[in-house]
Amino acid sequence: MGLKLRKLSYALGAEVCDVDIAKPMSEARFGEIYQAFLNHGILLFRDQDITRDQHIEFSRRFGELDRHDALPRDRHPDYPEILLVTNEPKPDGTPSDSRYTGRQWHSDMSFTPVPSLGSLLRGITIPEVGGDTVFANMYLAYESLSDGMKKMISDLHGIHMSGTRKINNLQSGIPRAEEQRRLNPPIAQPVVRVHPETGRKALYLGEKVKRFDGMTEEESKPLIDYLNRHATRFEFIYRHQWRRNDIVAWDNRCTMHLALGDFDETQRRHMERTTVLGTPSGYVVADG
Ligand code: SIN
Repeated sequence: MGLKLRKLSYALGAEVCDVDIAKPMSEARFGEIYQAFLNHGILLFRDQDITRDQHIEFSRRFGELDRHDALPRDRHPDYPEILLVTNEPKPDGTPSDSRYTGRQWHSDMSFTPVPSLGSLLRGITIPEVGGDTVFANMYLAYESLSDGMKKMISDLHGIHMSGTRKINNLQSGIPRAEEQRRLNPPIAQPVVRVHPETGRKALYLGEKVKRFDGMTEEESKPLIDYLNRHATRFEFIYRHQWRRNDIVAWDNRCTMHLALGDFDETQRRHMERTTVLGTPSGYVVADG
């Protein structure tokens, strides 16, 4: 029987119904899932009560996994393939380093020379209300621009910075942002990326982009702001309301996302992410 899919929004996303990812899965069935991933940009799997090993094993079918050397503070101490996105305090009672992860529009690992192909986020502890994640379809964002704008941005490269989130961890004496920037020098990535598998063009921007290569921040900002605003119009997004044991897989090459802080921070939100490696792109720039 073919894969049963339910569209999540007009712009992007589909729920994969009747699939238990903990069970053995044929190559043919995974092939259908991967094709749906390419077609819809985001896949939702509900009610997946799985272990970390099963999360990793399923993610590996999408490709080689990142061991998160670019974000060492946030990876799970025993499972380097798992990145923690949690507001659960550390064992010594200090605040979690990853409690504000994803609070700006971004595509995972865009600030590294090997940006991610895709990510699989597992909802483990979900606040009573909120803690939603919003996704934008970057194909639609690109395709709906005027020909003039498409031409103007065709050769631009955006400089993606790490350590742009609003938190400093002074515990080790090194502010987090400083450490992030030392580990991940600024990378210039094309503003228009051709998806290596679908061949479609997508915008590749987000709030980690501070300026275009060869231009000042002041010159770049109005256009970056316009393109980010355009890409995140209601028509181009899907807002996911999490349930425990949801797994959401997204294609970082044609979507970007934002973790909303729309919840009571005294409640727990604990998510775990695997990150599938993509293909090398971009170039390091000396002065960010
Ligand atoms: C992320 O940006 O990978 C995390 C998203 C989320 O926690 O909703």
